[in-house]
Amino acid sequence: MQVKIFEDHPELSATVAREIQELVQAKPNTILCMASGETPRLTCQLLVQMIRSGKTDISQLHFIGLDEWVGIEPGNSGSCHYFFQHELITPLGLREDQVHLFDGMSTDLQAECKKMDETIDRLGGIDLIVAGIGMNGHIGFNEPGISPDLYSHVAQLDETTLTVGQKYFDSPTRLQEGITLGLKHLLNARKAILIANGKKKAEVIRSAVRETVSNHLPATIMQTHSNGFIMVDKEAASLL
Ligand code: GLP
Repeated sequence: MQVKIFEDHPELSATVAREIQELVQAKPNTILCMASGETPRLTCQLLVQMIRSGKTDISQLHFIGLDEWVGIEPGNSGSCHYFFQHELITPLGLREDQVHLFDGMSTDLQAECKKMDETIDRLGGIDLIVAGIGMNGHIGFNEPGISPDLYSHVAQLDETTLTVGQKYFDSPTRLQEGITLGLKHLLNARKAILIANGKKKAEVIRSAVRETVSNHLPATIMQTHSNGFIMVDKEAASLL
């Protein structure tokens, strides 16, 4: 794993967006997985601009959403679905068959997990995963204590995630579970980039980079990825 430090969030976002665009140019049938959230929003917006202005062929691209809140409607602006729809799917004009998102409203969440795992297998595996990091060190909804051997699964969300997660919603929202790709997907991805910005992420980034690999802080697993990168701005790197 390598750590890359950027001047600020815009520089970090532009670099990641460019990397995604270059990958899609080199491999038009790229399987791209991304997290939603505050951190990757600018990356998505810059990627849309780059793809449009570069006239990049995205007709064979497949997009996979990293995670979703269970029980939250796709039309709720706090859902991951809403984020992907508004930041990537609609602006890029991705077809339905190119997009693979968890349905957090499904009455059979195990079937949703199975469908996602099978889709990833059928497509030949994830080329690039761009993940964020939660304040408790989670990746997706791989919460502290999670097994690194899991593929897609339903997670009980821990207190930090439930509290911090309220920031995505317009009004107080009852959250309990998440549905997410597993750490095994992260490790199997041909390339994994974890991004973080801002002072508030400095402590958890220090732990992810410096502490012994342990499922108590799921993001430490990045240290074991042979093609893994932690890309952060100066503020998030300030305790390294
Ligand atoms: C959320 C999501 C993650 C996301 C992380 C950080 O709860 N489950 O996929 O990467 O927390 O989010 P943010 O970028 O908003 O800080």
